Formats: sequence, C-alpha cells, structure tokens
Amino acid sequence: MCQVLEEYHEPLEQELRSASKKCVKCKEVLAVVVIRAGDKYCRDCFDQYFRHKFRAMLGKNRIIFPGEKVLLAVSGGPSSSSMLRQVQEGFSQSTHKKLRFMPGIVYVDEGGALGQSAEERRQTVAKMEDMFKATGFPFHMLPLEQVLDIPSSVMVKAPSSPQAASAYKAAVDRFIRNGVSSDVTPEEKVGTSPPYVLESQTHSLRQLMDSAKTLTAREDLMSMLRQQLLVHTARCEGYSKVMLGHNCTRLAVQLLTSISLGRGAHLAQDTAFSDSRYGDIISVRPMRDYSAKEIAYYNHLFHVPCVFTPNLHTKAKEKSSIQHLTESFVNKLQVDFPSTVSTIYRTSEKLQTACKNSSSEDHCDKCLLCMCSLDTSVEMASAFQATLMSERLSQPKSVGANSLFPRENPEWSGTPAGSCCKGTGQNCVEDGGCSSAFRLPDTADVRRWLCYSCQLTVKDMSSVDVLPQCILSEAQRRQNRSRMREEISDFLLDD
Ligand SMILES: *[C@@H]1O[C@H](CO)[C@@H](O)[C@H](O)[C@H]1NC(C)=O
Ligand SMILES: *[C@@H]1O[C@H](CO)[C@@H](O)[C@H](O)[C@H]1NC(C)=O
Ligand SMILES: *[C@@H]1O[C@H](CO)[C@@H](O)[C@H](O)[C@H]1NC(C)=O
Ligand SMILES: [Zn+2]
Ligand SMILES: [Zn+2]
Repeated sequence: MCQVLEEYHEPLEQELRSASKKCVKCKEVLAVVVIRAGDKYCRDCFDQYFRHKFRAMLGKNRIIFPGEKVLLAVSGGPSSSSMLRQVQEGFSQSTHKKLRFMPGIVYVDEGGALGQSAEERRQTVAKMEDMFKATGFPFHMLPLEQVLDIPSSVMVKAPSSPQAASAYKAAVDRFIRNGVSSDVTPEEKVGTSPPYVLESQTHSLRQLMDSAKTLTAREDLMSMLRQQLLVHTARCEGYSKVMLGHNCTRLAVQLLTSISLGRGAHLAQDTAFSDSRYGDIISVRPMRDYSAKEIAYYNHLFHVPCVFTPNLHTKAKEKSSIQHLTESFVNKLQVDFPSTVSTIYRTSEKLQTACKNSSSEDHCDKCLLCMCSLDTSVEMASAFQATLMSERLSQPKSVGANSLFPRENPEWSGTPAGSCCKGTGQNCVEDGGCSSAFRLPDTADVRRWLCYSCQLTVKDMSSVDVLPQCILSEAQRRQNRSRMREEISDFLLDD
C-alpha cells in the first residue's frame, strides 16, 4: 500500500497495473509467482494450489490404498524433495484430510557408478540422512552396488491382485472403521546406519558401467539398475508402491528419449502415472503434472531443502548421449516456446499399452533388463528384423549367425563348452542334454530375452558377464526351460 501512495501522481495507471499484479485466486494480495501468462498467485494461494494438485493427482488415480506402505524415492533433486514435502504436508493436516498411507524414504547412492571417492559419497549420504531424519519417516540408504547381489526373484513378475474401484472404497471404509488413522505416522524410525560398501562391489559396478561403450547405453543401464534395486527393496521391506518424483519436464524428455531409443512399445509404461511392469510393486509418478518452473518456485518460497548430486552426464557435452541431447533440446525449445513441455506431456497422457492377454504366466515374455513385455516377435517387415538381417550379413562367415562377439563364441574361446556333442554323442544323451547347458549364458542367450531397445543397449556392451547375477541366472533359467521345451516338443499338443 505504501508503494501506491508514493506513486500518487499516476493513480490510474498504477491502479491498472497493480490490478493485473493481483493474485488471480484471492484477487487481493499482490502476486509473487507467475506460472504462465495470466496465472499469477500470491504466496498462500500458490501454496494451496500446489498442495491441492498433489492430492488431486493421488485422489484421481486411486491407486494408493489407505494403510498401504509407500516408498518415496528421493534423489535430493528439486522434484523428489518437493514430493517429500508434499507428503509431509499431507500428514500435518487435520484428521479427515490427512494422507492415509504409510510412507518410507529410499535414497539410491549412485556414487560408485560415477566414480566418486568414498569420502564424497559419505558426505552426500550424511546430508541426505539429515534431510530424511527431519521428516520422521523411516528411511533406507542404498548404495547402487547392492543391485549386483539381489536374488533373481526380482526378475519374476509376481501376480498383481486385481484392484477394482470398489476395492478402493472398501479399503477406505475398513480403514475408517478400524480407526487406525493415528498409527499412520510411522513411529519406528528405522534409520539404517550408513551402508558399508565393499570395495570389490564398487569395482564390479564400475566394470559393469565401463563395459558399456556409449554414454547412452550407460545411462540406460543405470536407470534399469536403479529401478530394479528400488523394486527389490520395496519387496523386501513390505512396500507395495514406489513413488517417483518425475516432473513434467522430465516426462516430456523421457517420452522423446524413449522413442529415440527404440522403446516405442513401452512409451505408456515409461511415462504414465502408474507403471505396473513389476506386477506386485507399482511405481507412481505423482509429480508428473508439475512443471519444473512451479517446483522451482515452490522450493524457493517454502525453503524445501535439496541436495545436489551429480549424474552421469552432469559435466558431459550436449551430444554425448541421446538422453542428454534430448534433454537440452526440450529445454532450449521450451525457452522460446513455453508450451513445448506441456504439449509433449499431454501426448503422453493419451498413450495406452495394447495389452496382450498372456494367460501362460511363464514370465518369459518380459525383458530381462527393463521388465517390459518383449516386442521382438514382429513380422518380417520391421526395423527390428532389418537390423537383425544386416547384423547377420556383416558377421564373418565362421561365426555363429546370432553371436555378436566372436570371443564369446564357444568355438573360438577354446573352452570345451558347447563342443562336447561333436565328439562322442553318447554322454550327451546320458546327460539329457549337451554340456552347453552348463555354460554361462553368452551375449546371444541374454539378448534373446531382451526387448528391442535393451538389445541395442547390450549390443553396446563389451561383455554381458558383468551384468548383475540376477539377470544372468534368470537368462539361464529361461534358457533351461526353453531347451527342455524343445526336447519334449514332440510330445506336446499344439497350442
Ligand atoms: C525436473 O526434472 C529434471 C530431470 O530429472 C531435473 O533435472 C530438474 O532439475 C527438475 N526440475 C525441477 C525444478 O524440479
Ligand atoms: C483378454 O481377456 C479378457 C478376459 O480374461 C477378455 O475380456 C478380453 O477381451 C481379452 N482381450 C483380448 C485382447 O484378447
Ligand atoms: C540350468 O540347467 C543347468 C543344468 O541342467 C543347471 O546346472 C543350472 O542350475 C540351471 N540353471 C537355472 C537357473 O535353473
Ligand atoms: Zn491469493
Ligand atoms: Zn527392455
């Protein structure tokens, strides 16, 4: 008001200008935030708007049931930190508005893959711990190295219980009747002590990352590993949902990246609100409606703490990876054309997966890396078949048609593996199979169980032996099964 008085000599113009500077919601207080042209909010109204959006997103989708344990994946970045704040706010509400699920936090420490020193990692983990302790929620700190030791059960898609809309209502009723709402704020603070990472594990992880020859493949691998570790942790700790902090900008970038990487068949799962590729553990993305700008304003106005952690392409050149290039493309376009992100984002909302009815719960139809359904059984006239054909043609003659790397071909490496059948056929019959059954799966064996995009990723790796044990043993299991099926195929009735 003082300012208005000061500029008394231009009353009319000032009034006009200040009218347009008022908050569009309460129309009284001066706006402090301009999200889009015409969308101006004062501090309080922006707070309400932001919080309402979060609750509306959860309410609309009705995927998180009351009393359910939900794991919040927090990286320390602006989006996931803001998500954590929203959940905190949700628990400080009056009883009937209070969130009804049981939150826990998880942080995946990727320092080992990025080549950070133990001291750097310790500092980051300590900062994250401080941030998590302040929330009072239970939390888990996981070094990415742990993904190398998870059992192959993570690969097996557990059946998801069908959850109808009526089931949600029933769960709410049950929840209210039992009056467990006071238990919702978790009392036990299971703050795990800083993880002890063996140097050998970090070494293996580095080997895995270094085996990928391109940054594109490395980034792809890293996000798959992170996801598998999150799902595994959720399962072990009894969480049934994982909440990811992907913002609108991130999803727009993700959409274009997925297309560029040949993941067209998985676009919907990669970008939708909920992602059920892991069956019993469902990932949700409640921040997908927020633009980066909104989040940045919110975090600034309401002092949401963030911890900066570098990622694989933090200091890399723009064209170093498809992911990085797409990100800078979208961001640059967004500067001049502010509806870029929202246009791409709205496209993602319309996508749906054409769901094939796979009644045979064999799990063999899922990609070993990304767990999406395999998109490789396509007709002859496809990009995939064309790639295979040109690969086959460019192979040296003596190498098996589907083996990519000569040195991994048993015939070349000089190991007895795979060669037993050539000499005496007898012991093979007695064993019930050739001794190639006992060798580790090679590149061709692993590739067979990957989707088109993940095949490209693995093609960029110098060796598959460095992949986490759970992936290799699942590949072997499937290999065993399909061999067994071949052996008895004469006795099977046709489908
Ligand atoms: C949005 O997501 C991207 C990608 O994860 C991230 O780099 C960026 O910091 C986020 N922006 C905000 C403001 O949260
Ligand atoms: C899938 O199965 C359900 C019943 O189990 C059936 O109603 C639906 O039509 C099937 N969809 C396709 C594409 O076969
Ligand atoms: C595959 O079969 C071999 C030999 O039959 C066996 O040693 C191996 O444990 C099996 N692997 C899996 C994952 O079932
Ligand atoms: Zn207002
Ligand atoms: Zn895949």
